[in-house]
Amino acid sequence: MLYAAPFVLVVAVLNALQMLVEAYPGGPPLSACISMVPTGHGASTLTGTTPFSITTNTTFYTAGENIEVTISGARFVGFFVQARRRDSGSDTNTAVGTITPGNTNIGKTLDCGGGTDNAWSHKTNAAKTSESAIWTAPTDDKGTIAFRATIVQGPSSDRYWTGVYSANLPYGSPPDDTGDMSGPTTDPTTGSGHVVYGSSLLILLVSFTVAAMNN
Ligand SMILES: *[C@@H]1O[C@H](CO)[C@@H](O)[C@H](O)[C@H]1NC(C)=O
Repeated sequence: MLYAAPFVLVVAVLNALQMLVEAYPGGPPLSACISMVPTGHGASTLTGTTPFSITTNTTFYTAGENIEVTISGARFVGFFVQARRRDSGSDTNTAVGTITPGNTNIGKTLDCGGGTDNAWSHKTNAAKTSESAIWTAPTDDKGTIAFRATIVQGPSSDRYWTGVYSANLPYGSPPDDTGDMSGPTTDPTTGSGHVVYGSSLLILLVSFTVAAMNN
């Protein structure tokens, strides 16, 4: 009994510290689906350029395609990621596509806005430096999308970044491969090559004519 009271006190203090480290150790609540702001964390104390980046293994997407999305840059404890439409006039508040966490010991999915598995978050607040998932694109054209992330850097719960975006991923083929259906026939170097060839033939013909007249 003599040792029980201090032990209980230590456990209580550790629990309080744990709450300070992260307000949602098991992942964000569904109420955060639209804003993606971790309300239980208070205002962010971080300013300047985020040390984190959200990268993908392709620069565009097609219907139903699987794309790898990665959070990296620095140590972090919590994350919340969704693919969002980016075109002006489109619904930029709804998660699109579905996500499969790369590591299900660290990540889990959420069903945001009546969808299924359309958001990805941490499920434990263990420190990590890089996490990946597979995003499966919708089966129809949703225009340009980007991945939007909220990342809790820690160690305290008010050290987080929100509105961290990947590069935009347009729907369809990369810009360099579109529009040029005519191929090399319109290539100006090929065109000038023909001109040079034509001139040489003309000079050759004139030479023969001059030579023939001289004989
Ligand atoms: C991107 O990664 C996914 C998942 O690993 C893979 O299925 C897909 O083929 C990759 N895409 C490219 C363009 O490498």
